Amino acid sequence: MRTVYVNGDFLPEDRAHISVFDRGFLMADGVYEVTSVLDGKLIDFHSHIRRLKRSLEALDMNMPMTSEDFLALHRGIVEKNQITDGLVYLQVTRGAPADRDFVFPDPDSTPLTIIAFTQSKPGLADNPLSKTGIRVISVEDIRWGRRDIKTVQLLYPSMAKMMAQKAGADDAWMVLDGIVTEGTSNNAYIVKDGEIITRPRSNEILHGITRAAVLQYAKDRQMALVERAFSLDEARNADEAFITSASQFVMPVVEIDGTQIGDGKPGSVAPKLREIYIRESRRSAI
Ligand code: PDD
Repeated sequence: MRTVYVNGDFLPEDRAHISVFDRGFLMADGVYEVTSVLDGKLIDFHSHIRRLKRSLEALDMNMPMTSEDFLALHRGIVEKNQITDGLVYLQVTRGAPADRDFVFPDPDSTPLTIIAFTQSKPGLADNPLSKTGIRVISVEDIRWGRRDIKTVQLLYPSMAKMMAQKAGADDAWMVLDGIVTEGTSNNAYIVKDGEIITRPRSNEILHGITRAAVLQYAKDRQMALVERAFSLDEARNADEAFITSASQFVMPVVEIDGTQIGDGKPGSVAPKLREIYIRESRRSAI
């Protein structure tokens, strides 16, 4: 049984409880982070905590503890659950007021709820799918306009993953007016004539931590890179496509809506970026 974290306590998962009035539960009024763990160490930890702070502030919440306290929490939960490779899920909600009310509760009387748990994923960095690539379908992006805030409103991404599953695909890319925004839980990229193309940061997409790291590693190596929006048509005609996220790292995409990308196998750029990202992440893990 896992040990989870709730508001200052590490508890067996079956003894951890949240109020029925918690606004995370009633209103999706909360934000989260997923940090990967390799060799028992945290990947891109400080960037995840910086984004958590940004998400909280965008919703008028303050950081409930210091970065050092979050680090101790993460290290504690990794150690208690003996995680070698896997993920730490952290969620902060606006807490549990005395009753349901649309109006935000007074933060002085209603403390934020903090929970965390681990997911063990042995061999996370050796996902066999990275050798074959994944197949995606396109779906309309009907999410709200502040996708840059990492809220726990994951109903539509969840539905999109189900649409992908029903279509026999692995995941979905979301499309707004013919332009790809991002994957259901990852950022989207194409490669054309050696150039890596990905959408610039805006309110339309989540500012992926893996995205930032991968783009920096690519720049450091003088790889051709352009941050611009690309259409679904361009993606279908690209030489390569891939996604990035904390749980998938860099994952090649070999098919979009049944159309093969390039020769239908992971190309050269995505596997190279994957290798660089994993190597550099292991090196800088804390
Ligand atoms: N998802 N875009 C969306 C909509 C996401 O939900 C995520 C992350 C990303 C990639 O961000 P990062 O590189 O910081 O993981 C992009 C996490 C992994 C999840 O919900 O499980």
